[in-house]
Amino acid sequence: MAPPTHHDPDAHRPAHDAPAAYRRAFDAAQPDPERSVVRVELAARECDFSPAGGRFVRAWGYNGRVPGPPIEARVGDVLEVAFTNHLPEATNIHWHGLRVPAAMDGTETVQTPVAPGESFIYRFRLPDAGTFWYHPHHHETVQIERGLHGALIVRGADEPVTDRERILVLDDLRLDKKGQIAPFGGLVEGHDGREGDVRLVNGDVEPVLTVAAGQVERWRVINASSARYIRLSIGGVPFRILGTDGGLIESPITVTEALLAAADRLDLAVGPFTEGQELAVEALPYSRRTIRTRKTERFATVRVGPAQPSRASIPDRLRTIPPLAPVTAAPTRTVTLGVKTSLRRGVDFVINKERHHHDQPVKSGALQVWDVVNTTLMDHPFHLHGFFFQVLSVNGEPPAWRSWEDVVNVPPRATVRIAWLPDDRVGSWMYHCHILEHHASGMMAHFDVVA
Ligand code: C2O
Ligand code: CU
Ligand code: CU
Repeated sequence: MAPPTHHDPDAHRPAHDAPAAYRRAFDAAQPDPERSVVRVELAARECDFSPAGGRFVRAWGYNGRVPGPPIEARVGDVLEVAFTNHLPEATNIHWHGLRVPAAMDGTETVQTPVAPGESFIYRFRLPDAGTFWYHPHHHETVQIERGLHGALIVRGADEPVTDRERILVLDDLRLDKKGQIAPFGGLVEGHDGREGDVRLVNGDVEPVLTVAAGQVERWRVINASSARYIRLSIGGVPFRILGTDGGLIESPITVTEALLAAADRLDLAVGPFTEGQELAVEALPYSRRTIRTRKTERFATVRVGPAQPSRASIPDRLRTIPPLAPVTAAPTRTVTLGVKTSLRRGVDFVINKERHHHDQPVKSGALQVWDVVNTTLMDHPFHLHGFFFQVLSVNGEPPAWRSWEDVVNVPPRATVRIAWLPDDRVGSWMYHCHILEHHASGMMAHFDVVA
């Protein structure tokens, strides 16, 4: 998420059909102090999961789980993922938010998708601490929605101390009358992006999270929805934002709600609460100007149990983020998000008037100041691969605080000015709207980083 301008163990529950495979992968995901190589095996395959108490939903999961196993490592570790595709169609894995070499970005541009029955080894160093995620970058509207996505957590040496940490992968699912994943497509879905009425936290429907009174928890929240925006509220009580897409922010910010656009992440400090409190973790209404609108909807319930001692210590200063460019920096490029009517498809989502745009290269070391201009009447979550950016302004207004982001919401008719610095990772990269249906329709662009 980007700042506003102006103004459980249960999470790691093994899947019923692949506990052994999962445990192997999960154990392998623990950092190895000797060699600092974190080895993980991931296999994509069809599986069942039961988001609604015993009723099995046919899904696609990593290691038989929805969401996939969380991968956890430390800054500087090398992550090695031995991936095998057991799906009936080709796939790949993109490491959302990670500053990997271009060849490891897991898109169709840099890699031939892994065919059914084939394997591929991803290997790269983890340069940044933060809350990231992984998902396919092939046939995304179907593959990610069917369950292929998981958290990727990288810890720094100097993290704020909390009493407990939870990874909360938020998602929604559209089921048909038989309780199975509803068929894909249709005009509304193509326009709005796919949303569903079943709300999931780590694959569970509206779970109860038991929090000890007096303790402060760190919640790493990932919005893995195809299109849904989550205006997160925790019973209306204040909580602190510690970090965003690209890791910690400079100082904790106390809020009572925070917006996660599709693909956004937030690290929060939640609590302390008093025994007996019950709080709704919910999405407040947010209009991203879709055809279908939503009321307040619950994702989970916090139930506060007996008190436990707290050793939480969250410093006032978390990190220093030097500004990349002055707020007044002149744009070096304009990226225009638009729509175009098409005789065959009705409406296309485009960039610079083109579906699957090919943008100009950028030079290593040359500061980029981009105006991302939304000419449409709905919101779009703009996502840049492989590099973090800073938001300089939204409609000319500087943000209330500085952060590193890889997703920023661009409201209707708004201009978001971002700054980022291409480093020496030359190769082919992309940016796109992270509403999966818009991306698929054409609201995406390729560009090269050149020496
Ligand atoms: Cu979540 Cu192109 O990525
Ligand atoms: Cu990405
Ligand atoms: Cu969009």
